[in-house]
Amino acid sequence: MEKTILITGGAGFIGSHVVRLMVNKYPGYKIVNLDALTYAGNLENLKDVESKSNYAFVKADITNEAAVKEVFEQYQPDGVIHLAAESHVDRSISDPLAFIRSNVMGTVNLLNAARAAWGDYTEGKRFYHISTDEVYGSLGATGFFTEETAYDPRSPYSASKASSDHMVRAWHHTYNLPVVISNCSNNYGPNQFPEKLIPLAINNIKHKKAIPIYGKGENVRDWLFVEDHAAAIDLIFHKGVNGDTYNIGGNNEWTNIDLIRKLCEVMDNALGREKGESEKLITYVKDRAGHDKRYAIDSGKLMSELGWKPSLQFEEGIEKTVDWYLKNEEWLNNVLSGDYANYYSQQYDNR
Ligand code: NAD
Ligand code: DAU
Repeated sequence: MEKTILITGGAGFIGSHVVRLMVNKYPGYKIVNLDALTYAGNLENLKDVESKSNYAFVKADITNEAAVKEVFEQYQPDGVIHLAAESHVDRSISDPLAFIRSNVMGTVNLLNAARAAWGDYTEGKRFYHISTDEVYGSLGATGFFTEETAYDPRSPYSASKASSDHMVRAWHHTYNLPVVISNCSNNYGPNQFPEKLIPLAINNIKHKKAIPIYGKGENVRDWLFVEDHAAAIDLIFHKGVNGDTYNIGGNNEWTNIDLIRKLCEVMDNALGREKGESEKLITYVKDRAGHDKRYAIDSGKLMSELGWKPSLQFEEGIEKTVDWYLKNEEWLNNVLSGDYANYYSQQYDNR
């Protein structure tokens, strides 16, 4: 094998797209997917790659020191692409400690394991940490987050991700660990767990259930198709400069209410419903505590230095996404049959 890459969180939404891209694009690499299979991890996401000879799966928790050490010893990875994390802001509001454990402690555990395995000779090694634009805080009506924007995380989730980013940089400066970090905006696409706005709304529209919009629906997010994020990760892993940070975004800002109106239009078309029918399901509910107003990313550095650009227009991406959810009923039903009903009623009943 030319290289062995350890991907953490590969059974999750973005991780599964990264695993698929790497396994298919680099038949000479060994891709090892380490995932604890929390509620968000789903091996069905990887059905098409599980039998490939350059792919291996290990069920382990990144906070488990012995298990992570064993994986490093067994597979001797040259690179780590670290996506495993608790990822949902609303869950971080109700259970912050879980986020500190996985996102902060888990990241430090992986950094320690990489340092112990690679020692001082780190030629050809790379620890790539996947992070979020939420570490930069909240924007007003204008301006963009750049790689120089000061950190100002405001939710337990974003504070835990900011903390993990700082740890990664600390291991670089203190121990010379070869690292790279990227901070991305909101992803959407196939395989996203239906706690996040777009798949939750698709599922509710399909079942003619209320679409919950927090506050007035005026908060703004910048949406990127997940395969474009995966392509950026591939590029940064191979070409990014040691110690550098890259922002990744879709240059595609929507207020939540406009986004949901657009989604309703696409769903009406896809389901053969009368125009405007799904919009009637829009329901304004109590706002998220500490709800960040606007995120917007300047991806100029990634575009000019590494030549990345998003491949899909939003119109096409959202149609592809709706089509995937409508065609993959079994995937959705399996996901919904677990703990989802409990989660949903805790979050939304009495809101
Ligand atoms: P996800 O919740 O869909 O998947 C997370 C995966 O990590 C799951 O497979 C889960 O089983 C695994 N995991 C969680 N805790 C673990 C632990 N302690 N040990 C081992 N595995 C564990 O998340 P996602 O949306 O795919 O996000 C992946 C990464 O990308 C996260 O680090 C997130 O912060 C970052 N990110 C996400 C977005 C987005 O829009 N979703 C945007 C920017 C950055
Ligand atoms: O910006 C990157 C981040 O994007 C990632 O780091 C996170 O892992 C990812 O979850 C996402 O965070 P958001 O909080 O922006 O995503 P979410 O889908 O939860 O919400 C998107 C917007 O929609 C946000 O303004 C809150 C709002 N919302 C969300 C839900 C679930 C609603 O109005 N109603 C809802 O039911």
